[in-house]
Amino acid sequence: DWTMAAFRQQAVEAIRKQVGSGRVICGLSGGVDSSVAAILIHEAIGDQLTCVFVDHGLMRLNEAEEVVTMFRDHYNIPLVHVDASDTFIGALEGQSDPEVKRKTIGKLFIDVFEAEAKKIGGADFLAQGTLYPDVIESVSFTGGPSVTIKSHHNVGGLPARMNMKLVEPLRELFKDEVRALGRELGLPDRFVGRHPFPGPGLAIRCPGGVTREKLDILRQADAVYLDEIRKAGLYDAIWQAFAVLLPVQTVGVMGDGRTYEFVCALRAVTSVDGMTADFYHFDMEFLSRVATRIINEVKGVNRVTYDITSKPPGTIEWE
Ligand code: XMP
Repeated sequence: DWTMAAFRQQAVEAIRKQVGSGRVICGLSGGVDSSVAAILIHEAIGDQLTCVFVDHGLMRLNEAEEVVTMFRDHYNIPLVHVDASDTFIGALEGQSDPEVKRKTIGKLFIDVFEAEAKKIGGADFLAQGTLYPDVIESVSFTGGPSVTIKSHHNVGGLPARMNMKLVEPLRELFKDEVRALGRELGLPDRFVGRHPFPGPGLAIRCPGGVTREKLDILRQADAVYLDEIRKAGLYDAIWQAFAVLLPVQTVGVMGDGRTYEFVCALRAVTSVDGMTADFYHFDMEFLSRVATRIINEVKGVNRVTYDITSKPPGTIEWE
């Protein structure tokens, strides 16, 4: 793709110019955006870059391993793997407000990056895979009452006290362009085609309070759902699909016993850029198969619903 080849060259030059001989820390979230940003910056400044993968304990099943393996084996880019799950989950305890949760997570990310920066003798820049839609949806609209829809942790959620400057080479790109750039940089197709995953991870897919137990239940339900989506050959036709664990328990019956367990909502949308979205029209056979499997295989869930809200008026994530 000639456009992306040109973008790649310009971006590499711009990064060199911005960074000079400074040191950069790049936070990897496991998603496509931060991976593409890291690989691009590595191409520009080599070992002036330190990549930090923060495992906040809010990842999907096996996600952490997949990312670490890809950077190590496919790119040979050194990666610092920080297991900070106790810190993140501890800090989220008792928090149920969506913005408080997002800001708590954003602040902890910065704490981790700053601690890692200290270990390498200081860093001047923090690199992130911020995209154009993240910028738009996080800033307050001018002209009317100021409205922030969500503080994306990699934009509005950063604390003002942070003393590293930001490097955000993807700030003007949409998702499809980032995927094209990822292919240009040699990322494997199955990685480039991954569904977007939000920085705050599964914390914003557990509306209300977050606990390890809830995260485990959600992780399992989500894995069953995605397994069925892949088996049905639908993964690439969908922009994003995931399970949400509702903070509601309902009564059910299994065998000859009463159950009282959580409700799991399934979400799947089509979209071009994440700014607007339509819910995905699965056939009922498919939904029924997923619901049966989740209820049979995931302890803690006894009811499954499908979210048929488009964006607007809903957002893609529930928080
Ligand atoms: P919403 O829920 O606002 O999501 O309709 C739009 C797209 O953005 C993703 N998203 C995030 N991505 N950090 C990110 O990197 C975040 O804090 C964040 N919040 C939402 C969401 O998954 C969807 O693709």
